[in-house]
Amino acid sequence: MLDLLIHNATLPDGRTAMSVAVRHGKIVGVAPGLLAPAQTVIDAQGQLLSPPFVDAHFHMDATLSYGLPRVNQSGTLLEGIALWGELKPLLTPEALIARAMAYCDWAVAKGLLAIRSHVDVCDARLLAVDALLEVKRRVAPYLDLQLVAFPQDGVLRAPGALDNLKRALDKGVDVVGGIPHFERTSEQGSASVKLLCELAAERGLRVDMHCDESDDPLSRHVETLAFETQRLGLQGRVTGSHLTSMHSMDNYYVSKLIALMAQAQLHAVANPLINITLQGRHDTYPKRRGMTRVPELLAAGINVAFGHDCVMDPWYALGSGDMLEVAHMGLHVAQMTSQAAMRQCFDAVTVNAARVMGLENYGLEAGCNADFVLLQARDPVDAIRLRATRLKVWRHGRLVAESALAQAQLHLPDRPAQTAWGALSNAAPAVNRRAAPFPGRRLATNPERLASLARSPQPPGEPDNTHAD
Ligand code: FE2
Repeated sequence: MLDLLIHNATLPDGRTAMSVAVRHGKIVGVAPGLLAPAQTVIDAQGQLLSPPFVDAHFHMDATLSYGLPRVNQSGTLLEGIALWGELKPLLTPEALIARAMAYCDWAVAKGLLAIRSHVDVCDARLLAVDALLEVKRRVAPYLDLQLVAFPQDGVLRAPGALDNLKRALDKGVDVVGGIPHFERTSEQGSASVKLLCELAAERGLRVDMHCDESDDPLSRHVETLAFETQRLGLQGRVTGSHLTSMHSMDNYYVSKLIALMAQAQLHAVANPLINITLQGRHDTYPKRRGMTRVPELLAAGINVAFGHDCVMDPWYALGSGDMLEVAHMGLHVAQMTSQAAMRQCFDAVTVNAARVMGLENYGLEAGCNADFVLLQARDPVDAIRLRATRLKVWRHGRLVAESALAQAQLHLPDRPAQTAWGALSNAAPAVNRRAAPFPGRRLATNPERLASLARSPQPPGEPDNTHAD
C-alpha cells in the first residue's frame, strides 16, 4: 500500500492531471491517473505541485536580529558589516539557536526545505558555527541546512581568520567561503581566492564565495574564481555569490568573462532583494540596480539561482522566508518578463538552487525524495504573481506544514461572493454568479472543496475521499 497518493496535480513543467505516488518517503510513480490503495489520498484539484523551494544563499547566524544593537542608518553593505561586528560579541548560543530555529519554522511553512547558509568564522570562539551545527542537527528531519565557512572580515585581512575557517571545516561545516572584494587590496583578494580554492580541493569540498559584491566595475575576482576552478578541477562545485560588480562592468570585458565562467561551470547566485537595496548607494541619478547579469548568465548556460541572503538582520529589515518573494523581485530587477523568463525565475528558487547545493534526489520523479509543496496557483508564473499560499508541504512523504486557502469574502452588489485572485479564463466572467476561485479546466469550482485542501490530513487508515467526484 502507498503512504500517499496525490491526484490531479499540475506540475511545474506544465503537465496537468498528474498523480504522484509515495512510499517510504520516496516518490515511486508520477503519471496521469494512477490508481492504487494509499493511506492518504489528496486531490490537488489542478493546483501546482512543485519540488520544495531551495535557498542557495542565506545568513542564518544573523537572521531575526534586526535592531540589535541598532539599525543600519545608511543602508549600505559596509555599515551592515560594521553593525554585525558590534553584534558579534553580544551573541549567545541560546539566542542564536532560538532565532535560527524560529526562521526554520518560517521556512518550512513557506515550503522552503533546503537552505545554504553562510556562517561567520571570524569570531575565534566559533560560537555561531557551533550554534548552527546544532541547528543543522535539530532540523535535519525536515530541512536540509548546508553551512559555508564564511570569513566575513576577510580571510587574509582578519587576524586568525584562516585558522578559524579551518577549525570550522574540521567541526563539520560543509563548504569553503570567502570575500575577496573585502580583503585589503585587489592582490590580496586574488590571493584569498587561490588559497581558499586550494583548501577546498585538498578537502574535497565545494566553494561558495561572496564575490565582487560591489559597485566597483574593476572588482573582478570572479575572473580569478573561474581560473582557479578550472586549474584545480573543481568544475561544477564552485559558486560565485552576489557578483554585483558585473552590473557595472564594461560590456566588452563581460563578453569575455561570462564565457570563462561558463567554461569553469561556475554557479552564480544573485540576491535580488538585498542587492536592489544595498547597491547604488553612492550613486545620485541614474542609480544602478546592482544585480548581476542574470539573463546573460543563463543564456551562456550558467546555472543561476536566486538567494534570500538576509531576513531581518543588519543588512535588511524585511523578509519572511518566502522564496516566491525573492523570485518576484529577481524577475523585476532583471526585467525577465517573458513567459519563458518568468519560469526561469521559478527555477532559480527551486531546481537551479538545488543544483548549487548539490542536493541529491531532488525533483518530481520516481526515485526522488517525496519532498514537495502544493501551491494555490495554476502554474509557476501564477505562483510568482500571487506569492502563492503553500497549501501543504511534505517532507519525505510526511505533511510538515499547511496553510488555509487565501481568499477574501466580498460584500459588493452584483459581484461574486468571494475572490482568490485567480486569473480569468478567456471566456468573459459572468456577473451575478459565484466566482470560481481558480477558473480553468480541471480546477475545482466549489469553494468548500478548495477549502478542504487546507484542512488537516486524514489520519492513517482513513483515506481522504475528497477526490471522489
Ligand atoms: Fe551574502
